[in-house]
Amino acid sequence: MKIGVIGTGYVGLIQAVGLAHLGFEVVAYDIDLSKIEALRRGEPPIYEKGLKELLQQNRERLFFTHWVEDLRDSEIVFVCVGTPQDAKGKANLNFVFSAAERIKPLLTGREIVVLKSTVPVGTNRKVQQLLGNSAFVVSNPEFLREGIALNDFFNPERVVLGFGESHPQWVREKMLKVYDYFLKKEVPFVITDWESAELIKYASNTFLAMKISFVNELARLAEKVGAVIRDIAKGMGLDSRIGDKFLNAGIGWGGSCFPKDVSALIWQFKEWELEPKLPKATKEINEEQLLWFLNKIKRHYGGNLSGKTFALLGLAFKPYTDDLRESPALKLAEMLIEEGAFVKGYDYVEGARRNVKKLVELNTSTRYSYGLMVCDDLADTLKGADGVIIAVEYREWNREHWDEFARLVRHKAIFDGRNILERKLVEELVNRGWHYEGVGVKV
Ligand code: UDX
Repeated sequence: MKIGVIGTGYVGLIQAVGLAHLGFEVVAYDIDLSKIEALRRGEPPIYEKGLKELLQQNRERLFFTHWVEDLRDSEIVFVCVGTPQDAKGKANLNFVFSAAERIKPLLTGREIVVLKSTVPVGTNRKVQQLLGNSAFVVSNPEFLREGIALNDFFNPERVVLGFGESHPQWVREKMLKVYDYFLKKEVPFVITDWESAELIKYASNTFLAMKISFVNELARLAEKVGAVIRDIAKGMGLDSRIGDKFLNAGIGWGGSCFPKDVSALIWQFKEWELEPKLPKATKEINEEQLLWFLNKIKRHYGGNLSGKTFALLGLAFKPYTDDLRESPALKLAEMLIEEGAFVKGYDYVEGARRNVKKLVELNTSTRYSYGLMVCDDLADTLKGADGVIIAVEYREWNREHWDEFARLVRHKAIFDGRNILERKLVEELVNRGWHYEGVGVKV
């Protein structure tokens, strides 16, 4: 079966490579010629563990093209284009509709067009209206986490499929055939209507963001009353109805999905004249969290950060990715610079460092140009620092590292924005003269 994929960004590329690995012949189309050329050379434009290898391994079943006509004869076309948020937080659907318009002339009425892009409720219906009788539209949201996206592709916790009420039975059967590998692995399938499938995606991401915001807000109370958020989260998480995932307090959530999807869900409530109380609070708490953390840092320096130098450990929005979108680490860097501090940033992912260097060079934020320096070496980052800020949840540092850091910094203060250092290690460090502050922890 020939399968088409529109868009070779994060979602599209994983979908294309994943399906090729399952044995399908895949044609992946993108309007960006440079991306296509890179992919033809076997170079993925994004950093994802195992992707390059899998891309090369499945070369004979993967065809990358810049010509939309090459999608002709694809029995199923997955639309995986971006749905960025506009200035008001609403999802911009221009790419989705233009993809549908572009393929319409190639369709014969027997094809299935699958929307994998995250789209607001009602979009699958609108795309079906646009395509008319030329194809059947199916909603199939993705739940890929960056950094382990291939693992998530091959081992999903569920597959969600949303169909139109008048779709013939063969459309369902064909979708199940494409995902036969997952059926055989007994992955649960949620077969539903378009609108429910669309909302499952937004609800899942907003709920996860809400869990984090809940625990972050609670951390503020925990700290005031002398409790430890990590223990509270552990005690909560052992209740299987709550679960222990996404209860790590820190400086907040970022990335390409949570911020965009929470905002888009808020919009959808408003469009249907409902008050989005929890999604709104989820977003607000996340915005406050960085300020709350910054104030903690400021308090340690008597309220004045002017002239201070900070070693910022972690730059991307989470570990082991080069993705800087809505990165809390970078937002914190901007806030520190605004306070008159100088920031030396480091990330274990070389691509993340490179991307931040580009931002500094491009001068996208004037603040970066004079207040942020990216170091390729951890020791350089720490040299002469007045404080060390852990902004991304890397678990790389043991006591020996901190002993080495102690020799490099000017002032021994750790601000653990991800509560990543174990209690025992923190106690040892405090005994060795370090000042330590985490999120919702007492020392
Ligand atoms: C997320 C969803 O997990 C995925 O299912 C969806 O398809 C896309 O969005 P991703 O953006 O890759 O995936 O990031 P994720 O690993 O979920 O982390 C999001 C943010 O939350 C990160 O900034 C992370 O640091 C933060 N986080 C996560 C916390 O602050 N605490 C936690 O307990 C977990």
